[in-house]
Amino acid sequence: MTILVTGGAGFIGSNFIFYMLDKHPDYRIVCIDKLTYAGNLSTLAPIMNDERFRFVKADICDREAVYTLFEEEHPDIVVNFAAESHVDRSIENPSIFLQTNIIGTSVLMDACRKYGVGRYHQVSTDEVYGDLPLDRPDLFFTEETPIHTSSPYSSSKAGADLLVQAYSRTYGLPVSISRCSNNYGPYHFPEKLIPLMIANCLNDKPLPVYGQGLNVRDWLYVEDHCKAIDLVIHKGREGEVYNIGGHNEMRNIDIVRLICHELGKPESLITYVTDRKGHDMRYAIDPTKIHNELGWLPETGFEDGIRKTIRWYLDNRPWWEEIISGEYQNYYERMYGNR
Ligand code: NAD
Ligand code: DAU
Repeated sequence: MTILVTGGAGFIGSNFIFYMLDKHPDYRIVCIDKLTYAGNLSTLAPIMNDERFRFVKADICDREAVYTLFEEEHPDIVVNFAAESHVDRSIENPSIFLQTNIIGTSVLMDACRKYGVGRYHQVSTDEVYGDLPLDRPDLFFTEETPIHTSSPYSSSKAGADLLVQAYSRTYGLPVSISRCSNNYGPYHFPEKLIPLMIANCLNDKPLPVYGQGLNVRDWLYVEDHCKAIDLVIHKGREGEVYNIGGHNEMRNIDIVRLICHELGKPESLITYVTDRKGHDMRYAIDPTKIHNELGWLPETGFEDGIRKTIRWYLDNRPWWEEIISGEYQNYYERMYGNR
């Protein structure tokens, strides 16, 4: 069994590769990644010499490179993590999001058609459903919730999802889609809430909370997401969408306070800054379908997961310090300088 993983030098893709090599010792994993600012080859260093693993630096929009790789490897399954993934960057400049997230997805699916791949899996997001109001805690996103996006990022992911469904219906391509809530854990790029707050806390820097910090996200430990995708690609029904989420809703401000507390830092570091444009209020996934059909349940509780995550950032300072010492500083200044 050969699995082609795109975007495997990023946060969730790398965790997925580690999980799969461990869980399925007889599988071969081929990773294609463009190594954008979010991709980090050092993350994959421990498996670079593993004969079951191959890394290829390429853009999923590069049709020739993608077709050549499919010809060489004949993957049985393709799992597409590759994306521009940060909402704030999509607000600053949407075009690369449309290119990678939509065009890249179509190139990969064309290759799957051409080379007869058994399953194309699209890693999508709960953000395609838009947001829920804070005063209706009874509402959750199900797979039937209409697509209703807010940001250029979520719109590009929704566009890709629609294209995946179109390839299924029009060409009979064997596809599946998973829509997951916010992940956290090791190798999370420090532009996102949890790793940014951990890094800033450890450097005694202000903790920039957007608006009043009341927005709610449904946090899932990354390994639980990887387990869910493993189930969907092997046992999930073709053509289906599966929601993945941890029933773990938390307000941003409570997460930031918790991180301060765990690291022994004062809450006076918290700084309220101008809100994100079009900021989604609440995400909450109903994961009943994947539970009933595939028996998936999250295994790592938030208290345990956040402690493991903080421990990882403490033990792996060179990994994130290298990132935040480079081009990231320009990004940080642009994003937070005058906020
Ligand atoms: P990430 O930004 O950490 O990693 C993205 C990876 O894709 C990077 O390694 C990058 O180099 C690579 N990449 C970007 N453009 C590429 C291109 N054109 N060709 C090849 N590689 C390219 O993202 P992540 O947080 O790991 O998210 C992975 C996937 O999961 C994304 O599709 C995202 O939409 C989805 N998702 C993320 C979350 C979350 O909480 N992070 C939740 C639900 C779904
Ligand atoms: O829900 C799944 C999505 O989760 C994924 O599809 C995206 O790829 C992923 O980036 C994430 O999107 P969010 O926008 O929810 O994540 P982010 O970490 O950027 O922000 C989480 C919340 O924290 C959000 O309400 C904005 C807020 N925030 C974020 C940052 C970076 C702050 O208050 N301050 C910050 O500095």
